[in-house]
Amino acid sequence: MEAQAVHVPDNEQYRELKRFIDASRGVPGPLIQVLHRAQKIFGYLPLEVQHFVARELDVPLAKVFGVVTFYNFFRLDPIGDHIVNMCLGTACHVKGASEIIKALEKELGVKVGGTTADRFYTLSTARCFGACGLAPVLMLDEEVHGRLNPQKAIQILREMKARAAEAAAAETKEEK
Ligand code: FES
Repeated sequence: MEAQAVHVPDNEQYRELKRFIDASRGVPGPLIQVLHRAQKIFGYLPLEVQHFVARELDVPLAKVFGVVTFYNFFRLDPIGDHIVNMCLGTACHVKGASEIIKALEKELGVKVGGTTADRFYTLSTARCFGACGLAPVLMLDEEVHGRLNPQKAIQILREMKARAAEAAAAETKEEK
């Protein structure tokens, strides 16, 4: 793979990453740190960003891609503004978590790991939040929601979306 031919937009995100890379030169093995920072800046690591990192650090793109795909904390796809994290641990599983996840997949139109087309939600799963007494449990960003069933879970998501739409409408009104 050839890293040189890629067009890189001249914008603040790339400038910030470039500054970080320049400051990291001379540090042994900066690749993972640089990729962490890139993910913080961009939210994920699209191929274009990987090309940029490869070129700037003068390492083969295949090496960058290998690191990004090896560690599961690096993301190749964009994530939504809000993370829906359904617990699939034993207690939640016994209380019907898989029915809830199926209902959420249907509601959002994505599979686990996917992000909705409007980038509002990313659907994810976890293995126990330590709140088993509330099973089945879902975390929406930092908020824990327990004793759920498919209808309640869908309702929570719809309410958050409705609140966001209201807030956006109020903002537009204020701007006028
Ligand atoms: S198993 Fe779901 S919170 Fe513990």
